[in-house]
Amino acid sequence: MIQVNDIIQVNIETLVAGGDGLSRLDGMAIFVPDTVPGDQIRAKVVSIKKNYAHAHLKEVLQSSQHRVKPPCHHAGSCGGCQWQHIDYEEQLRAKKAIIEDCFTRIAGVDVPVKDVISNDQLTGYRCKVQYPVQQVAKTDPFIVGYYQKGTHHVVDIETCPVQPSTIDVITRFIRISVAQMGLKAYVPKNRKGLLRHIVYKYSETHQNLLVIFVINARQAPEKLIDLSKTLRDKFPQVAGVLVNYNIQNNTIILGSKTQLIDGVSYIEEKLNDLRFKISADSFFQTHPKMAFRIFQEVYNMLKLCVEQASLLDIYAGVGTFSLFLEPLASSVLAIEESPSAVRDFHDNIQSAGLDDKIRCIQGKAEIILKELYDNEERFDVILLDPPRKGCERAVIDYIASMTDRYIVYVSCNPATLARDVKALIAKGFRLEYTQPFDMFSFTHHIESVSILKKG
Ligand SMILES: C[S@@+](CC[C@H](N)C(=O)[O-])C[C@H]1O[C@@H](n2cnc3c(N)ncnc32)[C@H](O)[C@@H]1O
Repeated sequence: MIQVNDIIQVNIETLVAGGDGLSRLDGMAIFVPDTVPGDQIRAKVVSIKKNYAHAHLKEVLQSSQHRVKPPCHHAGSCGGCQWQHIDYEEQLRAKKAIIEDCFTRIAGVDVPVKDVISNDQLTGYRCKVQYPVQQVAKTDPFIVGYYQKGTHHVVDIETCPVQPSTIDVITRFIRISVAQMGLKAYVPKNRKGLLRHIVYKYSETHQNLLVIFVINARQAPEKLIDLSKTLRDKFPQVAGVLVNYNIQNNTIILGSKTQLIDGVSYIEEKLNDLRFKISADSFFQTHPKMAFRIFQEVYNMLKLCVEQASLLDIYAGVGTFSLFLEPLASSVLAIEESPSAVRDFHDNIQSAGLDDKIRCIQGKAEIILKELYDNEERFDVILLDPPRKGCERAVIDYIASMTDRYIVYVSCNPATLARDVKALIAKGFRLEYTQPFDMFSFTHHIESVSILKKG
């Protein structure tokens, strides 16, 4: 039997959800990050459970044909991307196999998973960036970037190829300025210091952005206000600078209050003539071009099977699906929890002249759905686009009784997708197919659209 600290020699068979390579030794599954199917490696065992173990890569003895030189020079340390060392075709193949595996293992179903639709913009695609900020000692330079793999140490990111390059330039300026001004980075251990995160929201349409300083304070210090004004003077692409107040002792990035310091409090994206206002606190798709491909896929699929449908859009954000699918609908009702997103939603339907056809209710889906169900509201199509944790069980239970036709499930997590699909199958739905999209290239994250039909 293997022990912790053993050095083992194994072959990597496949990639699994979470991004690790999987190998087997003495009937035990061994998960090793930074590997590629086809690699022959030496690894050090770091933890052992009943049926599986985790190991760290020590040496690649024989390299897989899919192993490549990472395009990013931070790849060895930065935890932002896990698959920089894997060729693109293999990334796509692995993503499809991971979804299939989740359906088989978790849902117990063998479903048609289509080939992954590839990303035609492999660089500069990530339009939302949340950088933690650290200083090793009080007077040390600021470190701004992503957490190192498996640690809480921040890697100072000079350039990130998957993000718009303007973010590198502005980060460089902020990093130096905050140090010169004598501001301090937040230290979670003693809850002292000011600056916790720098968040960017970038508009591809207008090539401008919001800069949001997340601070451990109830009021923004003068120095930060000065810096905000300087940023806007120096970088015309900065549309607005905001401060988010987060004095909580937790790892949630944004606190509940955000204040505009200079400029405007939102950016706009235009997709296919539809205009979306996106405030600092509102969710918007991280990769707008691939999101557009998803909206098109859902539209084209529904066009073949519904006309003048009643549509319920759950987890609606600022109204993307509601607005895209509106031409196929007789009415659209949306549910969204975030007050900021709902405000943007209302502005977006108003500017499209559709506020008499589309309606959004603010609140938790699991609560609003009970009211709708009790009022005997029923829909031809229910669209779900939940966060990574998937749907609350109550959401599944209500929606299963609220449509006799279609459920469209947009997912960013194959494991919770498979769990929820299993529950929907038990309630009389059939999974027609799943179409994955590569929205987050070089990472293990997988976006997909699944079509379920009653009966
Ligand atoms: C993955 S985003 C999808 C947003 C939108 N469909 C889009 O395409 O941009 C998930 C959304 O669900 C919202 N949300 C999270 N939990 C919720 C809940 N329990 N009830 C309603 N909305 C929720 C979030 O605020 C977020 O806007």
